[in-house]
Amino acid sequence: MTSGVDTARNPSRPAALAASPIIRLEALEKRFGSQVVLDGVTLSFEEAKTTVIMGPSGCGKSVMLKHIIGLLRPDAGAVYYDGLRVDRLSERRWGPIRQDIGLLFQMSALFDSMTVAENVEFPLREHTSLTAAQRDRRIAEALEVVDMLGFEQRLPAQLSGGQRKRVALARAIVLRPRVVLYDEPTTGLDPIRAAGIDGLILKLRRTLGVTNIVVTHDLTSAERVADTAVMLLQGRVAAQGSFATLRACTDPRVQHFLRGVYDRDEDRGSDESPQDPDSPDRP
Ligand SMILES: Nc1ncnc2c1ncn2[C@@H]1O[C@H](COP(=O)(O)OP(=O)(O)OP(=O)(O)O)[C@@H](O)[C@H]1O
Ligand SMILES: [Mg+2]
Repeated sequence: MTSGVDTARNPSRPAALAASPIIRLEALEKRFGSQVVLDGVTLSFEEAKTTVIMGPSGCGKSVMLKHIIGLLRPDAGAVYYDGLRVDRLSERRWGPIRQDIGLLFQMSALFDSMTVAENVEFPLREHTSLTAAQRDRRIAEALEVVDMLGFEQRLPAQLSGGQRKRVALARAIVLRPRVVLYDEPTTGLDPIRAAGIDGLILKLRRTLGVTNIVVTHDLTSAERVADTAVMLLQGRVAAQGSFATLRACTDPRVQHFLRGVYDRDEDRGSDESPQDPDSPDRP
């Protein structure tokens, strides 16, 4: 891994790096006051694969995602994007990298006063100089991926929860990102709509080669989409590999999580809140 490359998109990436992961976290540490949240997380995310991150509430999943897009800076360790060390970059240099990374955050609210089309168009207006006709084509392309063509003129209040998630996903992919981060994409959806979102996650990887990083508590969903699964416990990677590897893991904490067994000692440091109050709603 080198840090001397000057561009995130990095067209001149040396062949030797071609097989290296698109994102790598190295010995990542983060604390808030006296609370250690990430305690030496090392993880690689392979291009065009889906990695699922699981773990109890408060174990640091959302904090980890925020390091991947530079919304939080580590106290120690490093974050690499496409071979470039990014955790110390200035905000200005983060700009183009963030356009490469789509986000579907835990509280991915749409703008209530904007139509579906305007919501999806928002990142195009913010980050591109495309013409109105070009923007319209990109909006249609993104809505087609999520099966929401025909809903352009609806307001979010006129959509179901599952449809709103789909539109939020269209907004997350409208800049054609290489990586999409999902924080609890199926929370609050019925099993059929959850399966629909899982289908979209799989479709993005298969048809567009997107690298998916999915944080979820939903084991059915995790097993359906994961090429690789990671179990985060108390700020550390407790297990990783295929879903079958996790199921065979002998760490009792991993087994407890997979079987839904509550253990008060394992709950240390978790927060009871199901939602992250400061998840940014970054369109
Ligand atoms: N900006 C912050 N300032 C202080 N503490 C924070 C901040 N962000 C997160 N934390 C704390 O870090 C810990 C991990 O939070 P995180 O949001 O990553 O949990 P999580 O694993 O995503 O949980 P959940 O499954 O409930 O979303 C929590 O105890 C939380 O209170
Ligand atoms: Mg979270």
